[in-house]
Amino acid sequence: MDIILIFVFAVICAGLVKGTCPSTCSCVDDSSGSNVNCYSKYLGRIPALPNDTYYLDLRYNNITEIDVQLCKEMPQLHTIYISYNLIIEIPEITFADCEQLYRIDLEYNKIRSIESNTFVNMTNLYAIYLHNNEIFVIKPFTFVDLPYLDYLHLQYNKIRSLESNTFVNMTNLYYLYLHNNEISVIEPFTFVDLPNLHYLALNINKIRYIESNTFINLQKLYYLYLQDNEISTIQQFAFC
Ligand SMILES: *[C@@H]1O[C@H](CO)[C@@H](O)[C@H](O)[C@H]1NC(C)=O
Ligand SMILES: *[C@@H]1O[C@H](CO)[C@@H](O)[C@H](O)[C@H]1NC(C)=O
Ligand SMILES: *[C@@H]1O[C@H](CO)[C@@H](O)[C@H](O)[C@H]1NC(C)=O
Ligand SMILES: *[C@@H]1O[C@H](CO)[C@@H](O)[C@H](O)[C@H]1NC(C)=O
Repeated sequence: MDIILIFVFAVICAGLVKGTCPSTCSCVDDSSGSNVNCYSKYLGRIPALPNDTYYLDLRYNNITEIDVQLCKEMPQLHTIYISYNLIIEIPEITFADCEQLYRIDLEYNKIRSIESNTFVNMTNLYAIYLHNNEIFVIKPFTFVDLPYLDYLHLQYNKIRSLESNTFVNMTNLYYLYLHNNEISVIEPFTFVDLPNLHYLALNINKIRYIESNTFINLQKLYYLYLQDNEISTIQQFAFC
């Protein structure tokens, strides 16, 4: 009896160290590691997960916080779906050491603000989905050194202003979605560091003034949506 108990504890402890597949989820192991599917499992928090997880689906749960440093615990993680949950904030260190991360889906949560340096140095990141949250503030230096980011979805939030130095060194950004927010102020030079931007949606906001140098240096811009705002003044050299 004792021996069996010790054996059971040893197995459980080994599981905690490595992190086994959570009992409510399903995991498929292949040569890349674990593909973990916890879609709609009534989870209230992020469970312990296999440390070789590379693909993680936590959509449609009731997770209220991100209390793990995802890539420190799972160094091979490249795709994370955690949309349709109840997350209120993203701690600044959540994505530390996430150089290999390819895609982050956080849409349809209750996120209210994003700290500086939350999305930094993710040199493989291709897309961030943050739409349909309650974001009202994006601090300067939030999106920094994301050289392969193509898609940034921030639509359907409550963003009130855009400061320069928010989008820094995103040399590949192609699509920037900011429509259906409450933006009234855009600082000049906000988009200056986005040389490959093709698509910029700012429609359905509260923009009143467009200052000089707001849309400077956007040599690849093909679509600019500004309808359904309250624009009364466009200063000279706003578009140049
Ligand atoms: C989330 O919580 C609500 C309210 O407690 C519950 O009705 C719903 O079934 C839960 N959904 C999931 C997927 O956990
Ligand atoms: C996962 O944990 C085991 C046991 O501690 C370790 O041997 C292995 O290298 C870890 N794998 C990764 C991808 O970190
Ligand atoms: C980003 O990466 C550079 C170079 O690897 C490093 O010097 C810098 O400290 C990193 N920044 C953050 C906020 O991690
Ligand atoms: C942007 O990239 C350039 C060139 O790689 C670098 O010199 C600069 O420090 C970066 N800026 C920030 C704020 O990381």
